[in-house]
Amino acid sequence: MTIIFWPKIDLSEENLIPIATKNSLLILSKDERVRQLYYGENIKNWQEVTLLQQHHPEAYSSHSEWQKEAALELSHSDGNMGTVLEFVDSVVESVDDNCKRTVISLQNKNQNNPLQVKLIYTSYYAEDVITVQTEIVHQQEKAIKLHNYDSGELCFTKRNSEFHLTYFQSDWADEFNIQEEKLGYGKRVIESKSGNRSGFDLNPSFMLSLDGPARENSGEVIAGALAWSGAWHCSFFTDNWGMTKVKSGINSYLAHYTLEPNEVFTTPEFILTHSKDGKGGASRNLHRWARNYQVYQGNRLRPTLLNSWEGVYFNFDEEKVCDMIRASKNVGCDLFVLDDGWFGNEFPRNDDKMGLGDWQVNRKKLPRGINYIANYAEEQGIKFGLWVEPEMVNPKSQLYKDHPDWVISHPGIEIIEARQQLVLDLANPAVKEFIFETVNGILTDNPAISYIKWDCNRDITNENSPYLSQDKQQNLWYDYIQSLYEIYQRLRQNHPDVIFKTCAAGGGRAEYGILKYSHEFWTSDNTDALRRVFMQWNTSHIYPACAMAAHISTSPNHQTKRVTPLKYRIDVAMSGRLGMELNPTLLSDEEAVAIKSAFKLYKEIAPIVQQGDLYRLVSPYQHNYASLMYVDEQKSSAILFAYNVHHKWGNCFYHTKLEGLDAESYYVIEEINCSEKNHLEIAANRVSGEFLMKHGLPINVDGHFESAVFKLTKLA
Ligand code: GLA
Repeated sequence: MTIIFWPKIDLSEENLIPIATKNSLLILSKDERVRQLYYGENIKNWQEVTLLQQHHPEAYSSHSEWQKEAALELSHSDGNMGTVLEFVDSVVESVDDNCKRTVISLQNKNQNNPLQVKLIYTSYYAEDVITVQTEIVHQQEKAIKLHNYDSGELCFTKRNSEFHLTYFQSDWADEFNIQEEKLGYGKRVIESKSGNRSGFDLNPSFMLSLDGPARENSGEVIAGALAWSGAWHCSFFTDNWGMTKVKSGINSYLAHYTLEPNEVFTTPEFILTHSKDGKGGASRNLHRWARNYQVYQGNRLRPTLLNSWEGVYFNFDEEKVCDMIRASKNVGCDLFVLDDGWFGNEFPRNDDKMGLGDWQVNRKKLPRGINYIANYAEEQGIKFGLWVEPEMVNPKSQLYKDHPDWVISHPGIEIIEARQQLVLDLANPAVKEFIFETVNGILTDNPAISYIKWDCNRDITNENSPYLSQDKQQNLWYDYIQSLYEIYQRLRQNHPDVIFKTCAAGGGRAEYGILKYSHEFWTSDNTDALRRVFMQWNTSHIYPACAMAAHISTSPNHQTKRVTPLKYRIDVAMSGRLGMELNPTLLSDEEAVAIKSAFKLYKEIAPIVQQGDLYRLVSPYQHNYASLMYVDEQKSSAILFAYNVHHKWGNCFYHTKLEGLDAESYYVIEEINCSEKNHLEIAANRVSGEFLMKHGLPINVDGHFESAVFKLTKLA
């Protein structure tokens, strides 16, 4: 009999597995079990880590002995539910000069139930990011059942201070609401069971402050995100010994996976970063990592675009589209995107009631096809993009008539429609092929298409696959998302440079799994500039500006009816990937001039906004204005945004302390995208970085919906 609560750890160097980045360190030990000794700021003397943590939990816990919150819970093929994971070996390989992969192999101690687990830690040195994912395989006679199969877990010892959790709650047109709370004893779970839109109710990400309420620029913060478009969970379990265990992975609700012998089950990546510079530092780490390694072509500048949805919704024809293309080009847009409504003949897509699934061009609206308008755009000197929603079908469609068995549905139970549509069964290889062929066909037949907006407008309900056998019904959620990623992988091989935007009724798929294949996400169907100040502020905690689509729309706003000045709308949209969501043929001359100069200006500042480091300076939640800035890598240029969010008299000048500048250098500050009013009522021709960071700039955006944008340029 063995009792292993607090085993003595052999701290000799040979027994440790250090996974280090520039400023952070994860240390595991590899006695019989692999244990986590430490995750936090890099420390010189690794042996000292035992002073920080009193007991050393397994790095990947399995259900067997005293574990009640195990990362891995399963039934072996003979029904035995106990698994003890023993260390076998660990191998470190260099992926590139900056990135290392540590693969730790474990096996089930009970040889009657052969099963191996690989823990795969990938460390990104310069970005201070570590990701972990798990591979599970077995050689038992029959299939095993995975009841819970997390991607990874971490433990933190409670110091003499509280742990505070930050997470992001969403709804349609109301994405990324920041929530903060103190973690108490017991279990706190954030999760989604949507099945195909991991960010629709809560985003699969969090920040955990280890020393009281999270601060922007100081304090120890861990940020985490799960790269998964399906159901997920992230749990925080604090025990009586003062340990907090953080686990994340696929949500196993209705998803006890049946794994056949020798089939390799791979979990999504759990992405982690540690910052001692508060939430700001954690965001910058994630953003750099995302641009360098995760978001598709993350280092490339994104084009500006006009998306037709709010401009015309379903109401267009060839002439209208061509007019919009010309008008978009006239104001200096790089790309025109035709949204929903271009397909379906017998079931024409003139509203959201029919046509989904019938991906043939609507001959009445566009008699000369997509190719004609895509080529027309090309002739006008503007690129062309198209909307699709290929995972879905309207019951009123030819596709549904032909393949009613392709829909996720319970036999004998009425299917729930949402937005008059149903979800296709991606576990079915025929459906997977259909979706691939649909999108691949559109892109192959219309080579002038350079952008796809891929939407997903409803959750999975009636979780049953007509394709899967009865004993494998619970494989549906995992198989669905794996099929989705396989489709994207194949499309990427054939069309490497087509820009993909992920959208799920807005920001429902703003997450790092799909961003591996997509350049950007639609942040929200809510384009109200004031709401966007808050929403984009929150989104920026986890996701980089290059991926965050932000569009200028009309006033009054279609969602909130709020009236805002055009300059405010432009300035807010310019802090992300700038675009428009309106009918450009309806712009007044004055508006067209303002938008044209904004697009011209954005071309100059896009490298700093899309590729620079973000500093959130003044929170819209704490003041009556908000301010943020982007600084390029050399600290030679910066763009500073300021937005009034709540008009009140007095307090006209806000001394906004800047960040991220070179303290030793001098900067010239100019207001750009200027209106008649000068928002910086001092001459700022030569101000030191040190002064700007210590004392700040007196910015005046006190008026209703006033905003300002400044460029800082380092003097030689
Ligand atoms: C979703 C998207 C919108 C638009 C419509 C089209 O709601 O979020 O941007 O594409 O679908 O039906």
